[in-house]
Amino acid sequence: MRHVITGAGSGIGLTLAHRLADRGDDLVLVARSESRATDLADTFPRAQVLVADLGDPGTLNGIGRQVDGGLDSVVHVAGVVELGRVDRLRLAQWEEQLTVNLTAPAVLTRELLPHVRTGRGTILFVNSSAGLTANAEWSAYAASKFGLRGFADALRAEEVDHGVRVSTVYPSRTATPMQEKVHEQEGRTYDSSRWISTDTVVDTILHVIDLPPDATIPDVTVRPVVPRPGT
Ligand SMILES: NC(=O)c1ccc[n+]([C@@H]2O[C@H](COP(=O)([O-])OP(=O)(O)OC[C@H]3O[C@@H](n4cnc5c(N)ncnc54)[C@H](OP(=O)(O)O)[C@@H]3O)[C@@H](O)[C@H]2O)c1
Repeated sequence: MRHVITGAGSGIGLTLAHRLADRGDDLVLVARSESRATDLADTFPRAQVLVADLGDPGTLNGIGRQVDGGLDSVVHVAGVVELGRVDRLRLAQWEEQLTVNLTAPAVLTRELLPHVRTGRGTILFVNSSAGLTANAEWSAYAASKFGLRGFADALRAEEVDHGVRVSTVYPSRTATPMQEKVHEQEGRTYDSSRWISTDTVVDTILHVIDLPPDATIPDVTVRPVVPRPGT
């Protein structure tokens, strides 16, 4: 199988790329810069690595021409978060979250659609529980993820006749560098053992993209069990 993954350098995307590479699948990874591309090529020597900064979606124009043949999946994992009250959030913080979390996945999807149609594949968006419920100080991130949910739903309706399946996974807090940053911004002590492991989120992603062609899972939420049973 052949997959495009964004965000493969860290957290959920890194675990996903390792799991797919370990089972012998072909990977096409999107890195934000040449130096990040070199890091990814060192970690995943068999992968094709493309360079595009999701914070500057114009760099995605034409990227589909660098990909050959059909794709079994495109997994949009990359994302950024900045917490802050509305009276404090700066324009640059709004722009980065809306661009990386929403506009870039839309442009990359457009570029890769012919390949996913050929492969009758799945486009999967890693959204967030913040794409379903918006809490105080999460406005910009939640707006980007609510938008991503709307984009996925419209895309699913458009692509059904092409045999392309569209799925959204909504994880809650997952133990990654992003969650560590969120804890810093919240002024809380970070304890990775309290949160979902990246392997558990990736189990869900793999279940969705490995489905046989008779079914699709449009939406799935993944929540941590806190407190843990027996603790
Ligand atoms: N962790 C959680 O609690 C949680 C919960 C719900 C949803 N999510 C979602 O899950 C996804 C993965 O999050 P994570 O926790 O694994 O985050 P992470 O460890 O911070 O990794 C984020 C990845 O996104 C990439 N990225 C960010 N900006 C980019 C840009 N401008 N161009 C290209 N790549 C860029 C990063 O690339 P670099 O390596 O180059 O920085 C990194 O590989 C995100 O969409 C996030 O919103 C996370």
